[in-house]
Amino acid sequence: MKVLITGGAGFLGQRLARELLSRGSLKDAQGAPQAITELILLDVVQANDFGDSRVRTEVGDIAERSVLERAIDSNTAAIFHLAAVVSGQAEADFDLGMRINLDASRLLLDVCRQRGHRPRVVFTSSVAVYGGDLPDIVQNDTALNPQSSYGAQKAIAELLLNDYSRRGFVDGRVLRLPTISVRPGKPNAAASSFASGIIREPLNGEEAVCPVNGSTRLWLLSPRKAIECLIAGLELDAAALGNQRVLNLPGISVSVDEMVAALREVAGDEVAKRIVWQPDVRIEKIVGSWPGRWDTSRAEQLGLRGEHTFADVIRAYIADEGVQLR
Ligand SMILES: NC(=O)c1ccc[n+]([C@@H]2O[C@H](COP(=O)([O-])OP(=O)(O)OC[C@H]3O[C@@H](n4cnc5c(N)ncnc54)[C@H](O)[C@@H]3O)[C@@H](O)[C@H]2O)c1
Repeated sequence: MKVLITGGAGFLGQRLARELLSRGSLKDAQGAPQAITELILLDVVQANDFGDSRVRTEVGDIAERSVLERAIDSNTAAIFHLAAVVSGQAEADFDLGMRINLDASRLLLDVCRQRGHRPRVVFTSSVAVYGGDLPDIVQNDTALNPQSSYGAQKAIAELLLNDYSRRGFVDGRVLRLPTISVRPGKPNAAASSFASGIIREPLNGEEAVCPVNGSTRLWLLSPRKAIECLIAGLELDAAALGNQRVLNLPGISVSVDEMVAALREVAGDEVAKRIVWQPDVRIEKIVGSWPGRWDTSRAEQLGLRGEHTFADVIRAYIADEGVQLR
């Protein structure tokens, strides 16, 4: 089976690639495991190929049709479309966000349509499609009301995935990801970057700035579970999805104060004291518009799972990244 990951050099793209290579197979549309014979990692920056002969890296801009045509042929059975510019960047640069998050997503679907073989396409959407005056628990039928350009771009792309699936051009699956935490590495331009930073930096012995109020509620999922959900989402039976291709992924609803309490529980008071509180109105506005919890019963019925406690998420991060507590 030939598999494509756009954004294959990114945080989730690289983890997904590693997991797919280690599993070695994916279920096909009939539910039968098929060996992954080729894994294409497409990104604007060079992706790590893990020294694995099944990997082909492609450097190019997904907003260019020729790049997508090079990466997708009628044997590309599975596509994980992860390439995107993140929320803070899409808000700061309107044209860039529209071009990559929206126009390139449509282009990718159109190249699939042109190939005519109806590949399975997983699209990573976000909590940012919701916003405004939200109920405590966002339901599957809560109206989308994004309050950022990133959220609007993801919401439009969701509708496109639904319609291209309804028309039989692709077999699409939209997975709305909670904010991923704890993300290793450096802070990024996502408005939610602090949701990892306030755990990661204190565990590394460094100070971290928290730009939002402690009562701010976040909807979180660990990288480990996110990757499991992406693969499970791709392997779902199309009949079970019907004509509604969107799933709210399971996660944990925690306030920032509860995150800090979990850090204290796992790593001690000295570590938790390394958080510095410096409100940033711009970030509070974006993050405060996102839901703190949503109804995930549909995803759970289909077998997708998240964590149970945020302390478990921190422990998984420490184990996965080999963090030495300081
Ligand atoms: N990490 C999260 O908390 C989170 C939450 C919700 C949704 N998502 C979505 O999941 C997906 C992956 O997120 P991530 O955390 O791995 O982000 P990331 O920024 O690490 O990865 C995105 C990748 O896309 C690439 N890219 C950007 N513009 C491109 C272009 N023009 N052509 C080709 N590649 C391009 C980047 O170089 C990057 O490697 C994104 O679609 C993101 O919107 C992530």
